[in-house]
Amino acid sequence: IAAAFRPKLLAGRKVLITAGPTYEAIDAVRGITNRSSGKMGYAVATAALELGAEVMLVSGPTSLPRPAGTQLIDVTSASEMFDAVKQHASRSDMFIGVAAVADYRVAQPSKQKIKKSDAALTLELIPNPDILAYVASLPKPPFCVGFAAESEKLAEHAGAKRKKKNIPLLAANLAQNAIGNDDNELVLFDESGEHALPRADKLTLARALMRHAVALYMKGNRK
Ligand code: CTP
Ligand code: CA
Repeated sequence: IAAAFRPKLLAGRKVLITAGPTYEAIDAVRGITNRSSGKMGYAVATAALELGAEVMLVSGPTSLPRPAGTQLIDVTSASEMFDAVKQHASRSDMFIGVAAVADYRVAQPSKQKIKKSDAALTLELIPNPDILAYVASLPKPPFCVGFAAESEKLAEHAGAKRKKKNIPLLAANLAQNAIGNDDNELVLFDESGEHALPRADKLTLARALMRHAVALYMKGNRK
């Protein structure tokens, strides 16, 4: 009910969101993935919808239901996520990268199941494209919001990450607080410094993040 009274600050705006983990195949049955439930990304999608946005959610494998009202594009690997984002990024007003994208994929995944043996097995991993950095470097980028999962030195790593990716806003959390939990703590980093959001459930945090993002977006603050 409260949502009905929220001002529709993003009416007519397109918001593109990535969420969940990606899965990089090793063979027909095995793969490499990241720990992510998708809850934070889906909460951000819901918060954007409440603000009246047209929301496209590019999601890696999760067990969550599609937030009603969003357009969902299901993907598995980082390459598939990248392709989906490339198709829609330039037509979006805002891009929010919440996905825990695998940084590497297996160089030569096997079509058949690899049979185990007593010998050690070495996998060659090659880097995946950085989807957020790609979107941020488009000629006319949408307003970009990044997430950072860190295990230590949150402020140092997250502040550096925001500058390196050249994005106006980054939400950082400690992986040990966030993964799979319903509650989380977020620290927002923007040009004016850092803003800690109090511990709350993910939808409450997503709404606070979206309010902050919209305020910067309206100000035309694009760095
Ligand atoms: N991201 C992305 N594509 C990748 C890797 C990360 O779009 N291939 C995005 C994530 O969705 C997130 C942000 O970049 O919004 C930061 O992700 P994170 O894993 O914290 O940082 P990395 O830049 O990958 O650095 P590292 O994992 O070494 O900390
Ligand atoms: Ca990473």
